Amino acid sequence: MPGTYGQSTCGQSMTRAAVGVESVGNPLQVGLLGLGVVGSGLVRVLQENGEIIGNRLGVGLEIRRALVRSLDKPRMVSLPEERLTTNPRDILEDPDIDIIVEVMGGVEPAREYILAALGRGRPVVTANKAVLAQHGPELFRAACEHRAGLYFEASVAAGIPVIRSIVDGLAANQVQTLMGIINGTTNYILTRMVEDGTDFSVALEQAQAAGYAEADPSSDVDGWDAAYKLAILASLAFETYIPVESIHVEGIRRVTPVDIAYSRDLGFTIKLLAVAKNVNGSIEARVHPTLVPQHHPLAAVRDVFNAIFISADAVGELMFYGRGAGSLPTASAVAADLIEAADDLLRGQLPLLVRRNPGEWPVKPVQPITETRTRFYIRLSVCDEPGVLAAMAASFGRNGVSIESVIQKSRGKSPVDVVFVTHDAREADVRQALREIEPLAAVHQVASVIRVEDGTAGDKCESGGSARG
Ligand SMILES: NC(=O)c1ccc[n+]([C@@H]2O[C@H](COP(=O)([O-])OP(=O)(O)OC[C@H]3O[C@@H](n4cnc5c(N)ncnc54)[C@H](OP(=O)(O)O)[C@@H]3O)[C@@H](O)[C@H]2O)c1
Repeated sequence: MPGTYGQSTCGQSMTRAAVGVESVGNPLQVGLLGLGVVGSGLVRVLQENGEIIGNRLGVGLEIRRALVRSLDKPRMVSLPEERLTTNPRDILEDPDIDIIVEVMGGVEPAREYILAALGRGRPVVTANKAVLAQHGPELFRAACEHRAGLYFEASVAAGIPVIRSIVDGLAANQVQTLMGIINGTTNYILTRMVEDGTDFSVALEQAQAAGYAEADPSSDVDGWDAAYKLAILASLAFETYIPVESIHVEGIRRVTPVDIAYSRDLGFTIKLLAVAKNVNGSIEARVHPTLVPQHHPLAAVRDVFNAIFISADAVGELMFYGRGAGSLPTASAVAADLIEAADDLLRGQLPLLVRRNPGEWPVKPVQPITETRTRFYIRLSVCDEPGVLAAMAASFGRNGVSIESVIQKSRGKSPVDVVFVTHDAREADVRQALREIEPLAAVHQVASVIRVEDGTAGDKCESGGSARG
């Protein structure tokens, strides 16, 4: 007897008439919510590659209406004036529109408009990480209930087809680890700091001058943009819903040139990593500055580029690399989703992901950061006097934290920096050891603690300095 397989919880097929596409050959009509950076990029892609897309899809795609806030604003692309509107109902209630593309950004009213479109059975393509990360289950339930496709490739890493790869390409795998550089702004800033030796504030100004950072850069530099994207990727990879609030988030404001120099000596570079792991059924999800071995593929990802490294049981290790923002790279992903949405509509089918109904996926516990195990880089500022190193080492030892390497710089001056790299250790144990170390008379301060991912810190027997103890 054949095995029993999970039934998809929402309907599978729709007739062409049921979805309102009566005639093959006529272009499908697209309602565009937003005509900014991404919306204009999409119009450009459809204008420049429209014929190729039409040939591949078997039907053309036409922007019927575009929603904007201001009709007077100069636009990067030309659309006939009568196609612009400031009234969302002109798009959401137009029976001749087949597919809605939401590229407005923000949570409201984007969420409301997406739900309205899905409620009318219209497939929706969106690039909106904020709305997906915060309201994903609600949107998927609506898509499933109303049998309308929901497509969101551009919401993470723009032009890199990582969502499609997780959902379709890795459909036969169990993902174990996902680690990514998924915020181009912070990667640009860290690249400048590592390569030019500049400090954070100078590198941020450079990023702003180059147009890579907003006037208010907090969402990027404090790690929240990456956290939204990680919430989406990890939810898909581990078939659950990871609320953004459950992710441990640290930004890059406290990364210093001193730590960059020491980490280089130890064979690392520093990246803002978004990390998600499946550890025996519970999920680790965190965003923080991370030391990455210089030989790791993520170490080579420079400037505004993004990369996502995935380890899965059947396929092994994979890395996706490319531009994670920008008008055309993002439009590339939106257009690909639009083509898939159009194809699904013409075939009367829903995307597999919607049929799997992520809105009802079981919630899996996210591990508290104190329970995660990683290696740690720890820099302490101490008086250079006998016995200090032994006292610190004893505290680490008492708490089960084993030291892989130690270096001391600026010998002869006081205070001096002593840098430890630990073996894998539970974060709670490292914190307890540091609570014991900090009050020691010879210890000026715990200057920095940075997690380390993957690889080894060069020669384990090498002690690059001569801390006395
Ligand atoms: N930019 C990127 O590189 C990138 C990359 C990946 C994903 N995304 C995502 O793509 C989405 C769009 O980003 P974007 O950079 O294109 O934003 P944007 O340049 O600010 O464009 C937003 C557009 O939406 C319109 N709009 C916003 N709120 C509206 C409202 N309440 N009513 C009517 N129209 C409204 C704006 O109208 P006006 O033009 O009249 O102001 C504008 O045309 C966001 O979710 C973003 O996270 C962007």
